[in-house]
Amino acid sequence: MPRQKLIAGNWKMNGLAADLEFLDAIGPAAAAADAEVLICPPATLLAEAARRAGAHGIMVGGQDCHAAVSGAHTGDISAAMLRDAGASHVIVGHSERRCDHGENDGIVRDKAVAALEAGLVPVICVGETQQEREAGRQEAVIAAQLAGSLPENRGQRELVIAYEPVWAIGTGLTAEPEDVQAMHAFIRSRLPDPASTRILYGGSVKPDNASTLLGLPDVDGALVGGASLKADDFIPIIQAGC
Ligand code: G3P
Repeated sequence: MPRQKLIAGNWKMNGLAADLEFLDAIGPAAAAADAEVLICPPATLLAEAARRAGAHGIMVGGQDCHAAVSGAHTGDISAAMLRDAGASHVIVGHSERRCDHGENDGIVRDKAVAALEAGLVPVICVGETQQEREAGRQEAVIAAQLAGSLPENRGQRELVIAYEPVWAIGTGLTAEPEDVQAMHAFIRSRLPDPASTRILYGGSVKPDNASTLLGLPDVDGALVGGASLKADDFIPIIQAGC
C-alpha cells in the first residue's frame, strides 16, 4: 500500500501569532484529505501551532535545528526542543541555509542525525543551482549532496528527501515535469531504501501546477514556500495530493 503523499508548507521567516488562524482555515480540507499535511512555521510559533494543528490532524515541523543536544549555542534550537514544542519533522539543509549560513553536507548530515535521535523526521533538502544545471551537472551535484547529507545508519527510522532546484525557489520558474520526474527517479535510484523514503518536490509549487507535479510517479509530495502562506493557495495543493 503506497504511503500517502506529504504536502508540506515551509513558512520561512514569515508569520506572527495572528497568522496561525491559517491552520483553522485549512483544517477541514486537511482533515478530509487522503494526504499528510505538515506546516513548518517560524520556531516562535511552533508550540501554539502544534496545539491548533493537532485539532485538524495537521503535523508541524521546524525549519532547522542545531546538531548538538544542548549547550553554549546562543540563538540556536536543538531537535529535542523542537520535539518538545510539538514538532514531528524538521527541515534540514534548505538551500537558503546552505547558502546564507554556509551549511555544507557534513553539517546537514549532523543535523539530520540529531533529528532522528530526537525522534523527529528530517526533511533533507537537495538541489542544484542554475549554473550547475546549465552545465549539465545536476545529477553529479545531487549525488554528492545525497552521499554527504544522508545519515548512514538510520535503521527503520523515517526520513524524507526534498528535491528543490535552487533556481525554482521563489522565482515562479517551476521545473518542467519531465525534469522533475527524471531527478526524482535519479534520487530514488541513489537511496539505500527507495521504497520507504518519500521524495518531495519544492520550487514554485502553485495551485495551477500542483496536480501535474503530484501526479508524477516518483513525486511523493511537495515542499511549498510562498503558496503555503495563504489558505486559498494551499488548500488546492493539499487536494491535488489526494
Ligand atoms: O522549502 C520550500 C521552498 O524553498 C519553495 O519555495 O516559494 O518556490 O514555493 P517556493
